Amino acid sequence: MDKTIGVLTGGGDAPGLNAYLRGISATATRLGVRVLGLRNGFDGLLRPERHDGKGLVDLPDVLDRRDVFEPGSVLGAASSGFPSLSGEYARELVSMLRDRGLDALLMIGGEGTQAISRALHRADFPVIGLPKTIDNDLPGTPCSIGFDSAVEFLADSMRGLRRHAVSHGRVVLLETMGRNTGWLALCSALAGDADGVLIPEMPYRLAAVEEFVRSANSSLLLVVAEGAHERETPAPRAKGLGGVSRALADRLEAATGREVRAVVPSHLQRAASPVASDRLLGLRLGSAAVERLLVGERGVLLYWDGSRIRSAALAETSGVRSVPLDGDDLRTARSLGIFLGEHPLPVSGAV
Ligand code: F6P
Repeated sequence: MDKTIGVLTGGGDAPGLNAYLRGISATATRLGVRVLGLRNGFDGLLRPERHDGKGLVDLPDVLDRRDVFEPGSVLGAASSGFPSLSGEYARELVSMLRDRGLDALLMIGGEGTQAISRALHRADFPVIGLPKTIDNDLPGTPCSIGFDSAVEFLADSMRGLRRHAVSHGRVVLLETMGRNTGWLALCSALAGDADGVLIPEMPYRLAAVEEFVRSANSSLLLVVAEGAHERETPAPRAKGLGGVSRALADRLEAATGREVRAVVPSHLQRAASPVASDRLLGLRLGSAAVERLLVGERGVLLYWDGSRIRSAALAETSGVRSVPLDGDDLRTARSLGIFLGEHPLPVSGAV
């Protein structure tokens, strides 16, 4: 088959990217399709000189069978900003892609990357998007690659931190990434059996948090999303997040006299080993993306709904998917008696 497909991993890295690449590479090779990887997002196309002129590489040449078990991306993630989303620029980009012999593009990434996918689609270039973000906040899919691995990493950290907190009789705040959504914090708090969790979708009352800490006789383990904030303060800007738990720990120590420690694992969450569900997600969607491109599907984001591969129109992937206040994860947290930054604990609805 005389087709060449391009693939890139856009935005920050996330566990499981190499499984996507493996699924794409193996399927394309089996079908006789050439697949070229763009180095560092669009950098390989726009600035090939930074890559010794090898901004586009044959994917099978750079991918090792063992890579599916490793975090990061063998292609490199996006290292620089993308210049423009205008229609005019998208058309320029399309002619660059065509000049490099590409007939279609697989775009692995979160909201920023899928915004470029939408622009390319509007400029009539065949594109399929594949979801990636440990924040799990991409609209159009319940599940983005990297999320499960980050949750596993955080929950496993909590296993150790619980022992630490008990040993010292301390209050430990574990700060998760997630930007202005609380999926990562909430699901980690559930999976790691935390005593409480603060998420951006439910701005907390400082007095309630102080009271919770003060009234606990023993150690406590609280998960704090990096975007969590008080009711009285505005949501922090999505850029430059990180460190809210340190300020909160200081305030809680001062207000309660308890020993409080903040733990900020930061980018270790993105550097976690990809768990089986993320590897499966990458292999399933990566291989399907190649097959679907070849039968003419385009302009969609592929996703796994828990039992089947489905596609959402790229137009449905813009914006941010927040934790619904009436969703099952919050219901479960309430049901387990996990503290959510307010008192008294809201009574859970019908079961
Ligand atoms: O969107 C993924 C994410 O890891 C966020 O959770 C975090 O706030 C941000 O990226 C960190 O970005 P950077 O790698 O640029 O520091």
